[in-house]
Amino acid sequence: MNEQIVILDFGSQYTQVIARRIRECNVYSQILRYDTPAREIAALQPNGVVLSGGPSSVYARNAPLPDKSIFALGVPVLGICYGVQLLAQFLGGKVEKGRKREYGKGTLQVRNRRSPLFANLPKTLQVWNSHGDKLTRLPRGFTPAAVTENSEYAAIEDRRRKFYGLQFHPEVVHTPRGRQILSNFVHGICGCGRNWNMRNYIEQAVGEIRAQVGKERVILGLSGGVDSSVAAALIHRAVGNQLICIFVNNGLLRGREARMVREVFGRHFRIRLQYEDASKLFLKRVKGMTDPERKRKIIGRTFIEVFDSATKRAGMAKFLAQGTLYPDVIESVPIAGNPAALIKSHHNVGGLPKKMKLQLVEPLKRLFKDEVRELGLELGLPKEIVFRQPFPGPGLAVRILGEVTPERLEILRNADAIVLQEMKRSGWYYKIWQSFAVLLPVRSVGVMGDERTYDYTIAIRAVESQDGMTADWVRLPYELMETLASRIINEVKGVNRCVFDITSKPPGTIEWE
Ligand code: XMP
Repeated sequence: MNEQIVILDFGSQYTQVIARRIRECNVYSQILRYDTPAREIAALQPNGVVLSGGPSSVYARNAPLPDKSIFALGVPVLGICYGVQLLAQFLGGKVEKGRKREYGKGTLQVRNRRSPLFANLPKTLQVWNSHGDKLTRLPRGFTPAAVTENSEYAAIEDRRRKFYGLQFHPEVVHTPRGRQILSNFVHGICGCGRNWNMRNYIEQAVGEIRAQVGKERVILGLSGGVDSSVAAALIHRAVGNQLICIFVNNGLLRGREARMVREVFGRHFRIRLQYEDASKLFLKRVKGMTDPERKRKIIGRTFIEVFDSATKRAGMAKFLAQGTLYPDVIESVPIAGNPAALIKSHHNVGGLPKKMKLQLVEPLKRLFKDEVRELGLELGLPKEIVFRQPFPGPGLAVRILGEVTPERLEILRNADAIVLQEMKRSGWYYKIWQSFAVLLPVRSVGVMGDERTYDYTIAIRAVESQDGMTADWVRLPYELMETLASRIINEVKGVNRCVFDITSKPPGTIEWE
């Protein structure tokens, strides 16, 4: 990676958003802990450093502080929110508790039209603030570049040393032209080109994978989800037949799942695909089981068992590939009051056997999800895979409440296929986080024709979410809900009632078990 921006994380919930926005400007960025020694940062030869926001006060006793030598690296520095206060404090300015907390929308007036941070921008901008402390005296060498109603130092600069600071958050969507400000910093001030894109990334990653793997074999557990699919396509591009993908059919998949994976990867990409049909074993193991936790546990354990023996059958391999993403590996900053520190992906990676003693190949671990999707398209994966909604590892077992039986699986698959079809047909599938059917094994009375029915209920769940940690139910159009309900009740034998789930998360979860 030739050019890059280093972001020091002081615990803001938006640190990852800064990294994404910079990458959207086609410049690579990485997040490091706030206290990373300046010499380690220097070794990376960054083109610029960004100091993130954070929940602390610079004058608090336990305030997270950077290595002060970062201001002597000779590269441009941009402080955002808490970051600008640090910058001011370290360089001899003054920060005090503001009389009024500035929170929410504000209007920024650019005072200095020649300020490189505000190049190609109008004089008045809408910005988004979230801070209590206030800069009251500028360090020597600095001048104000822009003001808001509440702050005469909303943007500050020392053009000679290339130090810049913003009291507001340019990275959030509520600062509509914020991306241009960040682009001005990384391109105009730091002088970065536009080298970060997924086409270049493929080239680089292919080289790295080849160097790591040599002539050895790589095993990958393919689930059909976005991450493992893109990892498979990328590694295959690098080492071809040295990659062996293992796809486990646990008997709890959606209708066309197994067929699609075999078609796309086996036939289209000609990837070595070892198909393990373990559905009978899984169904036997969950038979009679009703407790959600026990169901999950036994499915997880069985998966590891099946995968482990499949690996042995695949022959000697030295490497295990995983679709780990950047948010899984960023070291979160343990700062009190930082909500981002609490957010950890809890379901991912599913504890593949440590005892397998394989070395990991993780070619996506520098990428955000949206970059993984872009990479997938660049590698020629179909939209159907690249933009598919998440699907839980334990599959339909967590969508059939209580006991999982072949009969119930069949009913749920049929209902689920209708939900999938109609969501795609109406265009809603790709707009939202997840949409699916849940089987409620309670019977209720209905009439069909002249007959009385006594059948199961299907709940339809459709949610909007950023990362699965919180979610809200989607207000689907009534017509679409009507189509879903009437098709399911008319076409799926064993179902005579449909309900729509309007629970948000929290307090509910997305899956029902
Ligand atoms: P919950 O139900 O906890 O789900 O609100 C949050 C997100 O995680 C998915 N999910 C799983 N994904 N293995 C997975 O890979 C699992 O065991 C699992 N359980 C839930 C769920 O679909 C939602 O997107």
